[in-house]
Amino acid sequence: PRYKVVVCRNLGPDVMPLLESRHELELVIWPEDRACNRKWLLENIPGATGVIVMLTDKVDSELLDKAGPSLRTVSTMSVGYEHIDLKAVSKRGLKIGYTPDVLTDAVADLSVMLALMAGRNGGIGYSLVLNGGWPNFSWAPFGLCGPQLSTTVLSPTRKVGFIGFGRISQATLSRLVPFGITHCLYASNPSSPPNLQHDAELQSKYNLKAVLKVDLDELARESDVLIVLAPGGPSTYHVVNEDFLRKMKKTSVLVNTSRGTLVDSDALAKALREGWIWGAGLDVVEGEPNVPKDHPLVKEPKCVIVPHIASATLETRKHMATHAAQNLIAAILGGDMPAQVDLSAFSLIPPC
Ligand code: GLV
Ligand code: GLV
Repeated sequence: PRYKVVVCRNLGPDVMPLLESRHELELVIWPEDRACNRKWLLENIPGATGVIVMLTDKVDSELLDKAGPSLRTVSTMSVGYEHIDLKAVSKRGLKIGYTPDVLTDAVADLSVMLALMAGRNGGIGYSLVLNGGWPNFSWAPFGLCGPQLSTTVLSPTRKVGFIGFGRISQATLSRLVPFGITHCLYASNPSSPPNLQHDAELQSKYNLKAVLKVDLDELARESDVLIVLAPGGPSTYHVVNEDFLRKMKKTSVLVNTSRGTLVDSDALAKALREGWIWGAGLDVVEGEPNVPKDHPLVKEPKCVIVPHIASATLETRKHMATHAAQNLIAAILGGDMPAQVDLSAFSLIPPC
């Protein structure tokens, strides 16, 4: 073997053979079935040509320095890459692989699931049954009622709002259209102008009353369902904060299927406790996986939380793992990487 490759998580019997069959690669695989230990990674990275990481593995200058000049590529099995210090990798001229597109549908599906769960008291209802409460609850005229996601004669408009309006938001929108959603509002990078033509095309494709880029203030005030689907990192940190939540409708539902850092957990817990909004469905929470039973959001009955599983379908994870392996192989042995992070924004930084 000519190239050492560190693999931070076993990618399973369907995908590992892609790597194992490349005899040019010497694989060093984290042996345990849990997130790779930082100390192990630092010990094993020296001299590596490539590394396959998960979003739980931080790729920073310390790791890159330890790897040394042999390192050519970092391939992450995720669409998000906040765990990778892009300045540090671009200074070193590394190729970064990631796995967009293949998870779009799975994440959109889960976003709809969480919107329904949170609005319709799915979490409260299920815990009631688990705890033996159904016999007392019986069927009650207004028992466990929540706001309806689909339009009705009693509520003929339904506005979905998105923070971030990329591939996954648009795939989520397409799933909500059959519910009778009438308006789509979104907020995205303030420095990029709205794409009026694209918005008009979506509006007519889905026969909506509006597809509109708005500011955060209007987004908070107008959305019946607000879905957070923007990248993490400093520019989106706590974009959903106390101020934002106070402006939302009392019957609105917040869904976060992007990164925990976009939502201020303490403010959200307060919003739910005091009824500023109806409910929340979260796939991600800041500080995860350290989200114990007594976490303020776990204690809120109106908050449904699942442990970062938005892309977790059998099909999608297999695609993601395959792309992570193919990205790495292409970056080291040649050929096109299925998806490479565009580092051009960092190209002004002179190589050191
Ligand atoms: C999941 O959160 C991902 O970034 O793929
Ligand atoms: C509900 O189950 C109904 O029959 O209305």
